[in-house]
Amino acid sequence: METIITDKLSIASECLKAGELVAVPTETVYGLAANGIDPIAIRKIFEAKERPLNNPLILHFANEEQILPFILDFPPILKELSKIFWPGPLTLLLPKSTRVDYAITGDRSHLAVRIPSHPLLLELLRSLPFPLAAPSANLYGTISPTSAAHVYNQLKGRIPIILDGGPCEKGIESTIIGLENNRVHVYRLGGISMEELSLHLEELPLINNKATDHGIASGMVKHHYAPKTPLFFYKEGQRDLSEQSGYIFYKNNPLSDRFKHVIVLSESGDLNEAARKLYSVLHLFDAKGLVKISIERFPNEGLGMTLNDRLNRATAKFTP
Ligand code: TXA
Ligand code: MG
Repeated sequence: METIITDKLSIASECLKAGELVAVPTETVYGLAANGIDPIAIRKIFEAKERPLNNPLILHFANEEQILPFILDFPPILKELSKIFWPGPLTLLLPKSTRVDYAITGDRSHLAVRIPSHPLLLELLRSLPFPLAAPSANLYGTISPTSAAHVYNQLKGRIPIILDGGPCEKGIESTIIGLENNRVHVYRLGGISMEELSLHLEELPLINNKATDHGIASGMVKHHYAPKTPLFFYKEGQRDLSEQSGYIFYKNNPLSDRFKHVIVLSESGDLNEAARKLYSVLHLFDAKGLVKISIERFPNEGLGMTLNDRLNRATAKFTP
C-alpha cells in the first residue's frame, strides 16, 4: 500500500467515510483515526499498529453535543473540567451507552472521550457524521509521533493517508481522568499537569496509573513509550560516557565539546518546551543508530511529572 502525506482535508474526510485509516494531527501527538462507529474500520487500527485487541481506544468528537448519545451520564465534576480544558489534551472516562461499538471498549463500562484542539482536526471532525477512534499513530509500545514524518517512518505501507498538520503543539499525550467514589482519578499523566487540574478541584486528584491498579490502560504498562535505542537515565558524574551515545539534558549541558550527539531541550528551563521536543529528539536519536541514549530526569513538577513518567516506563525496558 502506498502511503500519501497530504494537507488536504477533503482527501482525509473521503478516506475516513470510505472506512479507511487516516493518521491525523492533534495538539498532543498524531493519532491513527478510523470511523468510530464502524467495527471493520476500527479493526484496521489494531492491525496497522499491531496493538492487542483488548486495549481500548479514545473516541474524538467535535463538540459535547456529539458525545451525549455515547454516554449514560456526565458527572458534574468532570463536566466542569471539560468546560475548562476542552478543546484540549484532557481525556475523560465516562459511563458508556449502548451506542459504543464493542471494538472500541470491549466489555468495559466506561468510554474514553476527548475534544482535541488542533484546528485542522476539529475541522475534519466537523465534516464527518461520526466520531473518530484514534490511538497514537505509532507501532504498539513505541514512542508516539509528533510530526507527519514520524508517522511515515513507522507506518508507511500500512496506512493510505497521513494528514499533515505540522508539528504537535503539546508533544505529549493527553491526561486521562475519571471519577471513582466522587474523587477524580488520574489514569495517565499527560498534557494537563496535576497542578493545573488541582487548581479547579476541591480535593486533590489521585494518581492511579500503575497497570496493576486497574489493568486497563495499556499506556500504563511498565514497558511502553520506548525508543529502539537503549535508554537510561543520566547520572551526574556518570563515568561510562561515549561519543557514540546520545545525551539529552533539560537545560544545561555538563559535557565537553567532544560529545556531538547532545541536545538541550529548553535552555530557559521551560517544561512545556521540553515536552514539545522530547519525543522528536528520541525519534531523531533512534534514526542515528547510536549505541545508547542517556537522558536527564526532569524536575518533578508541572509537565516534568508527565515526562518522568514516560521515561520511567521507557527506561524500564532496558533496565533488568
Ligand atoms: O493524546 C492522546 O490521548 C492521543 C491522541 C491521538 O488523542 N491518543 C492516545 O491514545 O494516546 P492511545 O490509545 O495511544 O492511549 C490511550 C490510552 C491507552 O493506554 C488505553 O488503554 C487507554 O487510554 N484507554 C482508552 N480507552 C479506555 C477505557 N475505556 N478505559 C480505560 N483506559 C482506556
Ligand atoms: Mg499510545
